[in-house]
Amino acid sequence: MKLFVDSANLDEIAALVPLGIVDGVTTNPSLLSTQGDDPREVLKRICELVQGPVSAEVVATDVEGMVREGRELAAIDPHIVVKVPFGKPGVQACHMLAAEEIRVNVTLVFSAAQALLAAKVGATFASPFVGRLDDIATPGMDLIGQIVEIYEAAAFSTEILVASVRGPMHVVEAARLGADICTCPPKAIDALFNHPLTDIGLEKFLADWARAQQRPG
Ligand code: E4P
Repeated sequence: MKLFVDSANLDEIAALVPLGIVDGVTTNPSLLSTQGDDPREVLKRICELVQGPVSAEVVATDVEGMVREGRELAAIDPHIVVKVPFGKPGVQACHMLAAEEIRVNVTLVFSAAQALLAAKVGATFASPFVGRLDDIATPGMDLIGQIVEIYEAAAFSTEILVASVRGPMHVVEAARLGADICTCPPKAIDALFNHPLTDIGLEKFLADWARAQQRPG
């Protein structure tokens, strides 16, 4: 499973890239609005840093506007994937952009039916939001299982991009279910590294080694 960083913050992304675990980035208007600079400039710099798919979302709500913005976003860098919100305009815009070979990430997916429609119109990625479903007492990971089943049965090439991730268990469950990608806020990626037994184990190895160095001859 690929790991994307769910952030528009260059420092956060730059700190993770050298680890070799970052396959791409997802942004959204909320994330980009927290950065001071011109969003297009930020997106360009993220693309240069990551050299993988970088999702950039349209803010138009009509088909023509989405397609126009999608073309403009795609022109920023070859790594840009145009994100469109699910809905009739988003589905139609995805259909039109995909016909131009512009990669599209259909976002705000909350049901298997929506994921099915996104795949039918040639979305490169479909983004089901697991955390926001959990927030309303609906198991988000159940939706991932359903989409994996549907995409496998129909041999769709659309990749399942698990979004709205809150912590390491979402990541682990996404991988177990066979999702293609999990996009994680930096805090969730940091949490993947942590285990108290690793810390205790390393402390003991180093203490034993240091003691051995102090022994005479
Ligand atoms: C990524 O593509 C989504 O926009 C993001 O994961 C949403 O996360 P949130 O529900 O924490 O805002």
